[in-house]
Amino acid sequence: WNTLDDMDLEGKRVLTRVDINVPMEDGEVTDATRIERIAATVQTILDKGGKPVLLAHFGRPKGERRADMSLQPLIPTMEAVLGVEVVFASDCIGPAAAAVIDGLGENQVALLENTRFHAGEEKNDPELVAGMAALGDVYCSDAFSAAHRAHASTTGLAHALPACAGRLMQAELEALEGALGTPARPVLAVVGGAKVSTKLDLLGNLVEKVDMLVIGGGMANTFLAAKGIDVGKSLAEHEMTGTAKEIMAKAETAGCRIILPTDVVVAREFKEGAENETVPADACPSDAMILDAGPDSVAAVIAAIDEAETLIWNGPLGAFEIAPFDAATNAAAKHAAERSELGKLVSVAGGGDTVAALNKAGAASGFSYISTAGGAFLEWMEGKTLPGVAALEA
Ligand code: 3PG
Repeated sequence: WNTLDDMDLEGKRVLTRVDINVPMEDGEVTDATRIERIAATVQTILDKGGKPVLLAHFGRPKGERRADMSLQPLIPTMEAVLGVEVVFASDCIGPAAAAVIDGLGENQVALLENTRFHAGEEKNDPELVAGMAALGDVYCSDAFSAAHRAHASTTGLAHALPACAGRLMQAELEALEGALGTPARPVLAVVGGAKVSTKLDLLGNLVEKVDMLVIGGGMANTFLAAKGIDVGKSLAEHEMTGTAKEIMAKAETAGCRIILPTDVVVAREFKEGAENETVPADACPSDAMILDAGPDSVAAVIAAIDEAETLIWNGPLGAFEIAPFDAATNAAAKHAAERSELGKLVSVAGGGDTVAALNKAGAASGFSYISTAGGAFLEWMEGKTLPGVAALEA
């Protein structure tokens, strides 16, 4: 695929699909990471004499024009973070948007209203694609985190205009390719989270690609149960134990070492500071639940991190939201960050809760790469083709 370096942008209107689907509370952006991460693309387009025209979705309005899902309230944060003036157009097609774009001056960026206000966005409707394409000369795709959606603005436009990847898209693809495509070995994957059922494809794909796989969080309980261990009142999917066994067998055939907790922190209630004890993984009392991995298990994860050259991380190891059940996640994340800062490990993390957990551990900044993607990161790790990436290759 092309990058911004391959394109002549002088005087061109560059329709740039970004993902600024940021969390907001009471009208304020609470985490501007996704806005910060598009800065390099916006700046490159301006430096090359182009006019950045930002296209994005916000929330899931399902084809309805909803005031609570307008992109307009993001403007003050965007202007502060990007250091540009943002001019808003209340629709992503039509004459009003065209007028805003025509009127763009130096250091100005156009922001077009939520693409998902049109039902055609999610259907990749050719009419909507044509309406948006009429507003630009070049298409730049910088929304890796929305690339698992085959929508008008993520895939349709890539076929309608000369297309290229933006800086963030490039960085995401390079980091993930480095972690799972042609990585330095051994490769360690850490996968946590509540349920095996939501990460089945992920585990199935990883055991064939990585050398070591740490399974943590609630899903580890399902694997323990599959080994015939009584997990008491722990969160576990007992109907998935057969599947867990299949994954363990597949790992063995592929030469992937699965690392499960050998000791666990158990409690009788799930609340901050709940009374708890550490017991062997096969000794969870019948009236207690496993809420974190114990110190021996953490030591095994740390040993695996020391052995690894590459780490890919998705999901917390325990109930990281509440202390003290965040201890395993924090200790392992900090160790990975330290190894990465020493240049001994390439570490890549992504997915919904993961970045929150690493931030809480104070470890995120030490990682080699933190993806902005949630669902798209998971689908990439599952080995799926992302339509928004494939469209750039076609
Ligand atoms: C995300 O927040 O992960 C992306 O913006 C995709 O959003 P979606 O799940 O609503 O398509």
